Amino acid sequence: MEDKLDANNWKLLDNQVGGHKDSIFVLESGLIAKPCLKTEVNFYTTLYNQYKEYQLIKHIPKYYGTTVITQDNVEKECVVLENLLKNYSHPCIIDIKIGTRLYGEAASEEKKQRMEYQAQSTTSRETGMRICGLKVVDPQSNTSFKAGKELGRSLSASTISEGFKPFFINQDKVLINKSILNQFKSKISNLIEVLKVEEYRLYSSSVLLIYDGNFAFTEVKERTEFLTDVKLIDFAHSHFCRGEGPDEGAVFGLKNLLDIIESYIRLH
Ligand SMILES: Nc1ncnc2c1ncn2[C@@H]1O[C@H](COP(=O)(O)OP(=O)(O)OP(=O)(O)O)[C@@H](O)[C@H]1O
Ligand SMILES: [Mg+2]
Repeated sequence: MEDKLDANNWKLLDNQVGGHKDSIFVLESGLIAKPCLKTEVNFYTTLYNQYKEYQLIKHIPKYYGTTVITQDNVEKECVVLENLLKNYSHPCIIDIKIGTRLYGEAASEEKKQRMEYQAQSTTSRETGMRICGLKVVDPQSNTSFKAGKELGRSLSASTISEGFKPFFINQDKVLINKSILNQFKSKISNLIEVLKVEEYRLYSSSVLLIYDGNFAFTEVKERTEFLTDVKLIDFAHSHFCRGEGPDEGAVFGLKNLLDIIESYIRLH
């Protein structure tokens, strides 16, 4: 693995749904570069070097090393990652922050207090989930939808399922193809099984659900397999903790997410 990757030419990622605005870059190679803290580099390198047997690696973007991007005359240290959207013609994405605790081990007392308040005053504490943004493009109905973090902040534990409506029901009120929901169900179930046995803390990480909007809101009888992905991202506050057991908050959030997917499957 190369440590430094050339990053002279870059553009902003078009399809960024969560995180700080205009903070994700696409390099000439097509790979993604994201400004990072040392903790995130440590997380990826520790996984690749010391936890090779962990299944987590199959559920996160491939890591290619680090690079430096100059944006507005400021040099930014970045992790270089696989672009999870590279195979999609019409990527539809939702970013869901998982877990009930949102601060890492290195957080100051002030940050800890702030993140505790944030968890408590949003759906994070009660559901282990918070919607951070979503984007849907449906070429067949020629409709699209975009929402930022305000959506997630406007929801409560009892209404969070509603927040997924624009992701699974298009602007013409058509429910997404059942195969896509079933694929999400199976991929989230697999991820839960992995998180139940491996030992790390994914504080403030997100799960991205991705599907291709092309024909997603139609009944395509001959085509049962759609392009979909369920991937964990953002390890800026994560660490490994052998001997300390699984991340209960993350598992709790993913189980609640599974319940929501199942409730949309029942609408069919
Ligand atoms: N590997 C990737 N492939 C495609 N899109 C990605 C990838 N990583 C991140 N993104 C996009 O960028 C967004 C923000 O990512 P991420 O949470 O890692 O960034 P961040 O700047 O650390 O955000 P935060 O403010 O939560 O710390 C995601 O919601 C997603 O839309
Ligand atoms: Mg994030």
